Formats: sequence, structure tokens, C-alpha cells
Amino acid sequence: MNVCRTVDEIRAEIASLKSDGKSVALVPTMGALHDGHLRLIREAHEHADEVVVSIFVNPAQFGPNEDFDSYPRELEQDLEKCRKENVSVVFAPNRDDVYDEESFLKIEIGTLNKHMCGGSRPGFFEGILLIVNKLFNITTPDLALFGQKDIQQFQIISRMVMEFNHAVQLKMVPIVRASDGLALSSRNAYLSAEERLTAPGLYRCLTYIEKQIRDGVDEPGLLISHQTSELEAKGFRIDYLGMFSLKTLQPAETLVAGENYILAGAAWLGETRLIDNILIEL
Ligand code: PAF
Repeated sequence: MNVCRTVDEIRAEIASLKSDGKSVALVPTMGALHDGHLRLIREAHEHADEVVVSIFVNPAQFGPNEDFDSYPRELEQDLEKCRKENVSVVFAPNRDDVYDEESFLKIEIGTLNKHMCGGSRPGFFEGILLIVNKLFNITTPDLALFGQKDIQQFQIISRMVMEFNHAVQLKMVPIVRASDGLALSSRNAYLSAEERLTAPGLYRCLTYIEKQIRDGVDEPGLLISHQTSELEAKGFRIDYLGMFSLKTLQPAETLVAGENYILAGAAWLGETRLIDNILIEL
């Protein structure tokens, strides 16, 4: 497995794979790899000849008071995991290899960014589009894979690929959960032992709402505010909890048969922000 630290190195590496006629799948990550990432890598092997993993804690997607400095960085362990998963190339650049000191251009997102994580983390998705746009241009993958846990990210990246005509196919891979239902995330490492016991409550609340909807509730507003109070009573601080249209990412008050929705929540437990979602196709 080759480890590339600069843009020139990874470009040369990919050019050589492509000149051998190989298809390339990219799994973009910020490292601290867990089973959710490994599932992306395994899925990538199913659809491409060679798998490239990028590992870069992207400063542009962290707000000034967010956890950029404390975000887990475990490059050696990550490389070992990639080796075991038969990854062909890891791209692990330094900040200066990807970003210039000054930048003059900015991507604007519009309404897809108004609610869910976009509503509470200003600049977050702009920072993600910036790095993903760069990664697509640098690695020119045939396929790129992202996890459903960050479903708003996936939808916004899909729009970017469509509107900027990137020649890459995208694949969203289902959420990988611990045995008690908690969605795997690198940030789960921040949870204390007690918070870790409480954390699956977010998923339990989503599955409870999902069941009511599948049983016929089509105006879930009251149900959601009741579940919000239940979570608060357990110690969660709710960022958002609600139903959103899969296509527009706007809140959905009345559910309509034939439409696709995201039942999504984000909540703090102590210093840890958890997110989770369930896709509901009615
Ligand atoms: O999902 C992530 O880990 C990040 O947002 C991504 C796509 C690697 C961009 O930094």
C-alpha cells in the first residue's frame, strides 16, 4: 500500500493505476477509522479495481469554537487498518499541500444548507464542498463512497457533482451501528462511560417515531415535540429533531405517500454532538 503525502504524489499514483486500465474508488475520510469506514472500503472493493482512502482532518469544515484541535488523529492505526483492508493508496496530505494561505473563491450552497446540520453549523458544508471538490479534482475517482450517517452531506455533494459536472459516480452506504444501536462515529470516543450508555437513546427515539409514521401518523409534529422532551429528560440537548424532505432537505410537516423523507436528529450529550437518521420511503 502506498502512502502519498502530496498532491503530485497522489496524482502520479492514480495516473499509473488508470494507465493500467484500473477503475478507482475513493473513500474520503478524516481518519480515526472505525467499522463504518471499513464498510465503505469493503463496498468500494465491490465496485472498483483499486481503492484509494483519503485521510485529512479538514480545517475548513470546523467552526471557530468546534473540535478541530481535539479531533482524534490516529494515522499509524488508520494505515494499519487500510493495509488489512487491501487499500491500494492512502492520500494523507498536510494542510499546506491542499490549501493555499489565501483563498479568493467560495462555494455557496443555498436552501439545501438551511436546516439540519447546515442550520446549526455555519460554514460546515461550504468547507466540506471545498475539500471534496479538491479531492475529486486531485484523485479523479470513478466512484466515491460516503456514509448515510451524514446524509445531508451526501445530498449536497450529489448536487455539486451534478451541477459542476464531476465525472464521478456516488454511492451512499448504510449506517453501521454498535450492537445497542448507536451510529458509529469517530466522535463517539469523546463520550464518558455514562454518556455512552445514554447515547443510543437518540436512535431509539428515531425508531419509535419511525414506527408511528409507518403505522399511519402523517403529521408527526406533536410526536416529535414529545420525543424531544423525552430526550431532554435523559440529558440530551437537542440541536434538531424532525422530518425533512430527502430531495429538498426542507422540514416536512405533512407527510405524503410516494415521497422520501429523512427522519433526522442531532443532539449533544455533554461535549459530544451526536447525529443520526433513518430514511423513510412512504
Ligand atoms: O464525512 C467526512 O468524514 C468528511 O466530511 C469528508 C467527506 C471526508 C470531508 O472532509
